[in-house]
Formats: sequence, structure tokens, C-alpha cells
Amino acid sequence: MAGILGPRAIFWAFIVLATGVIYRTYIHNFIFLTLGIGREIQPIEDFPRPARKLYAACNSLDSRKGWSPGGNLYNFSARSRTDHIAVIDVDQPGSDGLYGLRQLKIGGYQDDLDLHGFDVRKIEGRLRFWLINYRPPVDHVTGEFLDALVVGANSTVEMFDLDEISNTLEHVKTVASEAIFTPNGVAVEENGLGFVITNDHNTKTGTLRDLEMLSGGGSLAYCRSDTGKCHIAADKGFSMANGIAHNKNGYYYVANSASGLITVHKLVNDELIQVESINTGYPIDNLSLDADGNLIAAAFPDSIALVKSSMDPYNVVAPATVLAIDDIANQLETYGKNVKVSKLAEDRDAKSLPSSTVAVHDAKGHKLFLAGIFSPFITICEQRLQLPMPKR
Ligand SMILES: *[C@@H]1O[C@H](CO)[C@@H](O)[C@H](O)[C@H]1NC(C)=O
Ligand SMILES: *[C@@H]1O[C@H](CO)[C@@H](O)[C@H](O)[C@H]1NC(C)=O
Ligand SMILES: *[C@@H]1O[C@H](CO)[C@@H](O)[C@H](O)[C@H]1NC(C)=O
Repeated sequence: MAGILGPRAIFWAFIVLATGVIYRTYIHNFIFLTLGIGREIQPIEDFPRPARKLYAACNSLDSRKGWSPGGNLYNFSARSRTDHIAVIDVDQPGSDGLYGLRQLKIGGYQDDLDLHGFDVRKIEGRLRFWLINYRPPVDHVTGEFLDALVVGANSTVEMFDLDEISNTLEHVKTVASEAIFTPNGVAVEENGLGFVITNDHNTKTGTLRDLEMLSGGGSLAYCRSDTGKCHIAADKGFSMANGIAHNKNGYYYVANSASGLITVHKLVNDELIQVESINTGYPIDNLSLDADGNLIAAAFPDSIALVKSSMDPYNVVAPATVLAIDDIANQLETYGKNVKVSKLAEDRDAKSLPSSTVAVHDAKGHKLFLAGIFSPFITICEQRLQLPMPKR
């Protein structure tokens, strides 16, 4: 016998694990089905869930406060040389609530890594990583460091394959090119061959660089993993090109931090032509796409607080906003630049969310992961089902 109780309205809410603050955000319909008697009921082990993982580029804050060429910080002597990729098991919080946090080892690569944006694709059963690497500049004859304040960083993209058994990233190759100039984000095509880099500025160093906040700047480099060759594929209309996400339909979404625009690009004859421009109304940093095709953006509701937080990260947390454009591919087709930009979460008083520069949404597990380049912690928000109080 199977009966239906409902449909019932339930509340979805984000619960910030750290503090238990509840955000009542969505109302959905939900249907309960009771289980019949006498059926064979299978154990949970019959339905293995893939061990889903989340990767993050991590380092110490003191190191980042010295060497962050993207943020005009060029003191490479302050580097702790401890940059690494950390991993957590998103479906297994564990008894300590740390989600099995651990570090990947590095194999076949002798230099230091100075990490920023990265992307991951599954290639022939293995996970391949494309990591932006802010190398300090070196004189290739003497091997001595050059003055980074003058010449800037010597940024490259490092490709690694993950050996899951030994938990080791094995180096595949270094992609070095003049077109990888002031890289910030990287987005890789489905087949792992083409990838696009955002350059956030037109200049590596110097006084004109700061004016780009007003005058605009930035470009997109298109690279090939097989040949290691790159070229500038777009250099007009950017305003601090920052986060980038690649959609399966071939579109690239680029966050322009200074203008708050998300520009939409398509590869045509080796050029990444701009086909649309969406105004979010916020300074925005990184972008990500979730499994349902929703675009998620980390936004700054208070830029001054963010600057303060970057200078004193242990004591100052800036307010954070997470924006979403649901099903962006379909919305773009229907509404063009008038797609609906909604707020997924916001923390005006900086109670629970970090000074966020990156937000990732887990559509299957109903979780939101927030982190920041100058944040000493990450926050995991959980979407919970809440039954309404019974009516009397
Ligand atoms: C650079 O970092 C080193 C090591 O932390 C520090 O001793 C030095 O004072 C810094 N230099 C500048 C110019 O801030
Ligand atoms: C931006 O987000 C993407 C997608 O989650 C991630 O792969 C990348 O490392 C992030 N970059 C930065 C600089 O946070
Ligand atoms: C930049 O890095 C590449 C790749 O390691 C290297 O070949 C080149 O000599 C470096 N240039 C400078 C100025 O550091």
C-alpha cells in the first residue's frame, strides 16, 4: 500500500555550519511517498555514491601578503613556499567536521608553486589539473632572482595529473607564453585541449596599472594543452577580467571586477568574441558553474571592507554576497542581457561567511562552499529541509 501525504510546502534554508545561522531562502513543493510493506528493501551499500571531492589552492596568509602579484604585492622573500592543493570529501563531514581535509603530494616537479586560479577535468579516467603559477622572475643566465617590482611575475600554467592511489599530482608540463601575462582565472574545455586564461591587467607593474581600475583593462588568452601554444584572443572591453567559467555549450563567462559586468564569449576563428554583457551591479570576483548549469558569482557588497580585510585578515572579515544566474545558458537565449541575477546568500555583518572571493555550489548535495584568497577559514553552508509547523 502506498499513500501520498501532501503535497506539502517545505522551507529550504542555508544553515551555516559554523554558527547555525539559518537563511530561509526558497520554498519548494515536496511529495512524500510511504514505503509499502513486504517489499525487498535494499541496504544503502547497494547504492554507492561516488566519493565526491572539492579541491582548493592553499597557502599561508603571511606568504600571500608578501607575494600576490595580482594584488601589487611583489615581495617574494616573504613567500613561505608552502603553496599546495588541499582536498576535502564533500559528502563526509567526519566526526571532527573537517571533511577529511588533507594535502595532495607533488611528483616530478622541483620548483615552488605559487598558486592562484585553477581548473580540473577528467581525462581518460584521471583528473588533470591546470594550475596558474606566479613564478618569481629569474635571470636565466645567472639564475638570480630579478626585481619583481620592476618586471613583475613570470606566470605559467602547470599541468598535473592526479594519481588517486598515491594522492600525488604528477607533473605533465609547463605552459609558458607571453600571452599568459597577468593570469587570474583559467577555464578548460570539455576535452581538455583548449583552455582560456583571464589576464586581469594590461600591465604587470607600474603606476598606470592602478589606473586600470578606472580605464579598464585585461584580456583573454586562448591556449592549447597539446602544443602549449597561446595567443591573445580578446583584449577589448574588459575591466579587470577575473573569474572565468566554461559552459558545455561552448560559451565562456568572464567576471569583470571593476565594472560588475559578466561578459559572455564564444570562440570564432581563434578569437573569443563577446556575444553578451550582463550587469550584476556588484564588484565581482570568481565565477563557477554548478551541475545544473547555474552560474555562481562571489561578489563584494563593501569593497572598502574587503581591502581592510586583505590587510588584516585575521581580525577583519568583509561582508560577502553570493549571486546566481539560474540556468544561465537558457536564460541568455531567452532574455539576452536581461537575465535574472539573484542573491543566493549575503552576510552584511560578516558573521558567518569569509571575505569571499570564490563560491562553489554543490547542486546535488545542496551545499555552498565559500573561501577567500585572504581568508584564514572557509565556510560550508548546507541547504536543509524544514517541515512547516503543523496547522492547528
Ligand atoms: C619582504 O619580506 C621579508 C620576509 O618576510 C621581510 O623581512 C622584508 O622586510 C620584506 N620587505 C619589504 C620591502 O616589505
Ligand atoms: C575560481 O573558481 C573556480 C571554480 O570553482 C576554481 O576552479 C578556481 O580555482 C577559482 N579561482 C580563484 C582564484 O579562486
Ligand atoms: C619564466 O619561466 C619559464 C618556465 O620555467 C622559464 O623558461 C623562463 O626562463 C622564466 N623567465 C623568467 C624571466 O623568469
